[in-house]
Amino acid sequence: MKELHDRILKDGQSFDGGILKVDSFINHQMDPVLMHSIALEFVKRFSDLGINKIVTIEASGIAPAIMVGLEWGLPVVFIKKAKPKTMGDMYTAQVYSYTKDRTYDVCVSKNYLGKNDRVLFIDDFLANGNAALGAKDLIGQADATLVGMGFIIEKSFQEGATRLEKSGTRVESLVRIQTLKDNYIEFL
Ligand code: G4P
Repeated sequence: MKELHDRILKDGQSFDGGILKVDSFINHQMDPVLMHSIALEFVKRFSDLGINKIVTIEASGIAPAIMVGLEWGLPVVFIKKAKPKTMGDMYTAQVYSYTKDRTYDVCVSKNYLGKNDRVLFIDDFLANGNAALGAKDLIGQADATLVGMGFIIEKSFQEGATRLEKSGTRVESLVRIQTLKDNYIEFL
C-alpha cells in the first residue's frame, strides 16, 4: 500500500534490533485519514467472504478494526488483555510476548463470539505472531470461523506470517518489511 509505505519512510523511525516506531501516526498519535485508507484497503482485500464480525486485540488494533467495522457496518470485538471482574463466561488463552518476555492472559466474552461468526482479525503489527495465534485460539474455542487476518505492518524477518500461514490462516499485510536497522528500512 503506497500511501502507508511512503508515510513509514517519512515519519517512521527504525532501530537496530528490528524495532519500528510509528508513534506519530499509529501507536500514540493517530492519523484517522490514513487509518481510513488502511480500512478501505482491508475491505478491498477481504471482500465477498461473508465476514460478519471484526475482531482485534487491545490496544493498538482497535483503531484500524473500528474503521473496518464502520465501512462494513459490522460489530467490532476487542480481545482483552486482562480479565475484567465484571466479565462472566469467557474464553481465555495465554500469549507470550517476545518483546516484553512475559506471558499474559487474553480473554473474550462468550456473549460476543460464537459459532455463527465469520471473523476477520485486524491488528497493527505482525511480529512473532503470538498475539494473533492467541486470538486464533479464542476464535477456535468459540467455534467461530476465522476467514483471515489483516495487519497494517508485517515484520517479515520475524516468524509470525509463516506460523500463521502454516496454521492455514490467510494473512494480508499492507506493508511487509524485510530489514530494520538504525535509520534503515527495507520493504519486501
Ligand atoms: P507478536 O504478538 O507478533 O508475537 O509480537 P511480540 O510479542 O513480538 O510483540 C509484542 C507487542 O509489541 C505487540 O503489541 C506488537 O504489536 C508490538 N510490536 C512488535 N514489534 C513492534 C515494532 O517493531 N514496533 C512497534 N511499534 N510495535 C511492535 P502489544 O504489546 O500487544 O501492544 P499494543 O497493541 O497495546 O500496542
